[in-house]
Amino acid sequence: MTILYFTATGNSLYIAKSFKNATLYSIPQLLREKKLEFNDDVIGIITPTHNFSIPTLIRLFLPQAKIKCNYFFTIFTCGGSTLGALDEYAKLAQKQNLTLNYLNRIAMMDNYLKLWDMREQEKKLPQKYTQEKLEQILQDIEKRKNFRLKSNIFYQWFSEMTYFWCSNFVSNHKQFHIEDSCINCNICTKVCPVSNILKSTPKPLYQNHCILCLACTHHCPTHSITLKGEKSKERYRHPQISLREIIQSNQG
Ligand SMILES: Cc1cc2nc3c(=O)[nH]c(=O)nc-3n(C[C@H](O)[C@H](O)[C@H](O)COP(=O)(O)O)c2cc1C
Ligand code: SF4
Ligand code: SF4
Repeated sequence: MTILYFTATGNSLYIAKSFKNATLYSIPQLLREKKLEFNDDVIGIITPTHNFSIPTLIRLFLPQAKIKCNYFFTIFTCGGSTLGALDEYAKLAQKQNLTLNYLNRIAMMDNYLKLWDMREQEKKLPQKYTQEKLEQILQDIEKRKNFRLKSNIFYQWFSEMTYFWCSNFVSNHKQFHIEDSCINCNICTKVCPVSNILKSTPKPLYQNHCILCLACTHHCPTHSITLKGEKSKERYRHPQISLREIIQSNQG
């Protein structure tokens, strides 16, 4: 089994690692190395949900990828609400002539700092039944179940509009501020999946092709990166994923 994943705070990597005997590849690395051909019996993609929609990186990756397999699945990790994201994704896969055998989502910690205080989010975790859902998904895929989680036309429209708005009217890179507490450790540069943060003294510099994944903000050891409108200074990384693994996944 081959799994292609994208992660900012480790949720999607944790799900990817739960598939035993799978070979994992990080999508940011694959894009950098232009390794875009995949051939296996079973191939899966694991990605976060961004703005009720498909993350920019996946929108970039999927049309370039040449995926040949007998069973293709995709799992969206999310905070709990994907609205029409999965339908948008199914359309994108269809455009690439990819037969999508299985499409599902799994609710986990929501890392979107503009909406949530991470400590408050943590309290919601028991209501998300992540582990139970994961077990179900693993069994489904083991049995090669055919299933596609669908929403309704209104949710699809809403997701399309949100993506349109965010990609055309929001300047992602202008949302960050680096405080003077920065120790210039360059971890933010190393965890950025699209090499958007340049090493510089006394502080790193944001370029203008940020995809708003929030890896830099969550993994800064001194919490020196603030996001406009963030609910609190609490930060998050999946408890079973190390900073080293995030760097290995995303480093340019
Ligand atoms: C910019 C942004 C937008 C997000 N939008 C949504 C959303 O619309 N719905 C949702 O349920 N979760 C949303 N999330 C939460 C992530 O999808 C969720 O925490 C995911 O599991 C993170 O995966 P990762 O740790 O692998 O990066 C958003 C996160 C970010 C950073
Ligand atoms: S991770 Fe934080 S402390 Fe380190 S260079 Fe970036 S902003 Fe500064
Ligand atoms: S600059 Fe930060 S938020 Fe933007 S893509 Fe890089 S790590 Fe993600």
